[in-house]
Amino acid sequence: MKLTRWMFTIAALALVLPAAAQQPIVIKFSHVVAVDTPKGKAAEYFKKLAEERTKGRVKVELFPNSSLFKDGEEMEALQLGSVQMLAPSLAKFGPLGAREFEVFDLPYIFDDYSELHKVTEGPVGAALFKKLESKGIVGLAYWDNGFKVMSANKAIRMPADYKGLKMRIQSSKVLGDEMKALGAIPQVMAFSEVYQALQTGVVDGTENTPSNMFTQKHHEVQKYTTVTDHGYIGYAVIVNKKFWDGLPPDIRTALESAMKDATKIANDAAAKDNADALEGIKKSGKSEVITLTPAQKAAWKKALAGVAKENEGRVGKDTIEAVYKATGNKP
Ligand code: LMR
Repeated sequence: MKLTRWMFTIAALALVLPAAAQQPIVIKFSHVVAVDTPKGKAAEYFKKLAEERTKGRVKVELFPNSSLFKDGEEMEALQLGSVQMLAPSLAKFGPLGAREFEVFDLPYIFDDYSELHKVTEGPVGAALFKKLESKGIVGLAYWDNGFKVMSANKAIRMPADYKGLKMRIQSSKVLGDEMKALGAIPQVMAFSEVYQALQTGVVDGTENTPSNMFTQKHHEVQKYTTVTDHGYIGYAVIVNKKFWDGLPPDIRTALESAMKDATKIANDAAAKDNADALEGIKKSGKSEVITLTPAQKAAWKKALAGVAKENEGRVGKDTIEAVYKATGNKP
């Protein structure tokens, strides 16, 4: 009798155990932009490499275009463990309490990608990631996007042209102060809602990278796009710390190597994708692309010069100075 029960138990376990052992570790990776962007492409490449290098022990489920969570929801979802991986723009860490990340939003803080990389690939970038750990988050990599343009239904050439315009921004106080310095009225809004808000006139304009604007068709509902290059948008790829620390070490190593290679994909794609997107906007004939003269650009820099000082208390004077020191550029 006893023997029969044992045999039954063993037979049942034999059926269940291999199935359980084969259950892959699922990484839900949510982001808000289109697949055909630097972030979208890098996320796809990460999925491919992560699944290959763990020989299927990890399955990455991608949710682009705010299809699972949108801005304002995704950070909480990560902390609660409803998703395991995100790549929010660096402008979206303020609501989490990591206000130092808004240093990346300061006007003209980087002249080019090489200055940016001195921060993201150096000790300042690492120190910023350390600050996330107390929030239950681990920073794995910085992914590039690019330099911002401004769009509106009127031709913007000088800061004064912005007076009274309602401008959509990401959830960053620094960006709010930037718009106020231009005389505009900032409005925080989730990325997924911007197209409709521009179309219906809920806001008059926005700022973003050409690749984000073109893939979301913002240019179809904005008559003018001004190449200001006044600020930067890029990402931190982040994971839930409890999830990450609980992974088998060999899996973590494989995922780190996949992330390293995916980072190269994002960073190699960024400059070209944005140049191509700006060309696409021009060719569409739907939004006139305005290039600033050196004198106009100088007026922008002057109008925005006070934003860094104004935000020393929020972002941290030390962080701002550390970025200036790393880049050798104090705008
Ligand atoms: C935005 O909200 O405009 C951007 O952060 C979107 C993104 O992820 O690039």
